[in-house]
Amino acid sequence: MNRKIQFNLNGKSISREAATHRLLLDLLRDEIGATGTKEGCGTGDCGACTVFLNGKPVNSCLVLSGELDGADVVTIEGLKIGPELHPIQKTFLQDGGAQCGYCTPGMLMMSKALLDENPNPTEDDIRYALSGNLCRCTGYAKIIQAVQDAAALLRK
Ligand code: FES
Ligand code: FES
Repeated sequence: MNRKIQFNLNGKSISREAATHRLLLDLLRDEIGATGTKEGCGTGDCGACTVFLNGKPVNSCLVLSGELDGADVVTIEGLKIGPELHPIQKTFLQDGGAQCGYCTPGMLMMSKALLDENPNPTEDDIRYALSGNLCRCTGYAKIIQAVQDAAALLRK
């Protein structure tokens, strides 16, 4: 069933006619052109498609358009603070936290969720928070370093 869906995406109101079973991931990438969010598995297992829905990280491949009315969605395109990269983006760049980069948007969104809740995470906290985000390039050590450095930057 198609119906009009209105939600806020990165602070802007979006209105679309969409099938209620259309996935948020597909709506973002195929209809809105917000291709920063990636599809890895499509089944909720890899975290590549992580976005914020009403302030909480979710796998956008598991969210139906019909759930979006009035919701606030933030994607990787909305992570910057004004013209500036978010500290977590800066430290991923600085520390080499991205290799092919496919998992990176999901890693960044999940890392932000962690740092919003816990500004001083231990290495175990970071590993636990990112345990649902898989990196095929297996650069986990640098990813963890980047999150630790972002936490330090944000505490300054
Ligand atoms: S694409 Fe959504 S969790 Fe893998
Ligand atoms: S950097 Fe390639 S999948 Fe993570």
